[in-house]
Amino acid sequence: MPHGTTPDMKPASELTWRSRYDGVRGRSLALADPLSDEDCGAQSMADASPVKWHLAHTTWFFETFILERMEARFQPFQPAFRILFNSYYNGIGERYPRAKRGLLTRPSMDDVRAYRANVDARIGRLLADQAGNRQLASLIELGLQHEQQHQELILTDVLHLLAQNALFPAYSDDTPLPAHSVAAQAWVAFAGGLAEIGHDGEGFCFDNELPRHRHYLAPFALAERLVTNGEYLSFIEAGGYRDPALWLSEGWDQVNLLGLTQPLYWQRDDTGNWCEFTLHGVQGLDRARAVTGVSLFEADAFARWSGARLPTEAEWEVAACSDACGEEGSQERRLRQMFGHCWQWTSSSYAPYPGYASAPGALGEYNSKFMLNQYVLRGSSIATPPGHARASYRNFFPAGARWQFTGIRLARQ
Ligand code: AVJ
Ligand code: FE
Repeated sequence: MPHGTTPDMKPASELTWRSRYDGVRGRSLALADPLSDEDCGAQSMADASPVKWHLAHTTWFFETFILERMEARFQPFQPAFRILFNSYYNGIGERYPRAKRGLLTRPSMDDVRAYRANVDARIGRLLADQAGNRQLASLIELGLQHEQQHQELILTDVLHLLAQNALFPAYSDDTPLPAHSVAAQAWVAFAGGLAEIGHDGEGFCFDNELPRHRHYLAPFALAERLVTNGEYLSFIEAGGYRDPALWLSEGWDQVNLLGLTQPLYWQRDDTGNWCEFTLHGVQGLDRARAVTGVSLFEADAFARWSGARLPTEAEWEVAACSDACGEEGSQERRLRQMFGHCWQWTSSSYAPYPGYASAPGALGEYNSKFMLNQYVLRGSSIATPPGHARASYRNFFPAGARWQFTGIRLARQ
């Protein structure tokens, strides 16, 4: 099976696919609306990509994994794009170096829009001709889920790009900011025991969420809400960044190498007041908002300083699937801010579940080859497209990554 799909994906009607396809594809273009073409071409660092590259790469994905395989008399839109917009698929062939994506002044944004329109029209024809084709349906689904992942990356990369500019331009006031909470931190207890984690078979999932399997958990508690900026500020003021006893060795090295003293987007204004650069521009630091822009090292040091720890991914998922995360009122103590605010670092290495199998061929590279030296994040963020994430979703980044919408939920025994 192409990875990430249930074997019996229902062949929805051509019109259903078409409207979902148009909706997701249109949303990517809309994310570029507040930006100039110059904004869209720039790359702030090797880990981030220009918006223009994201818009082209997601199109390349449909062209390479669907049109090239399924279209009669396939002709590439532009042969060089096969290399330029191949992110990391060695099974496809040569790749343009990631760190140099900002040097691609050509194709222009207009050329990339034309590339998108061309591929969209051809996908439309394929959907019209092969409406009942299950393999096509699975690949379209994967292409759309992939595009949604890049929609989040567009926003994280734009924030990082605009943060390099002393003008500190706002992206848009329409995008939401992370959660607000003034409630004292409280804990929700779980009994543990033998639990199952992994996707349960309804709807789409990525291959890394499979197979569902049993997992034994000791009793644990999760914090009811995310750690706030105010709480994180207390950690800073207590000398958290200067106390090696709080840090993992690699984290302490990073703190010293980069001179870290605060989350990625925090700064002080002329009078010394704390501010934060957000998609809305620079704002006074809102103590009640969830902290973001922290690495796993910072999350872990904060947790240790708090006398707590980070959750494991299994604890997080079991809690997310429990009554404590259900409808309002189903339990006295409820977990809040699990989804839609910031991704929550876990202490779990990103590793294959027992029995995991990646898809054959180049698509097998999508998730599996990254299952080393990265950590799992759970939940979803303000930048995650609506409906994209779920309780079994496994995001992953290296422990030192700080530019995603990453935050902290505490756990303890
Ligand atoms: C799951 C966010 C780590 O950024 O490489 C995009 C998402 N996979 N294209 C990444 C992804 C293929 C992935 N993360
Ligand atoms: Fe990608």
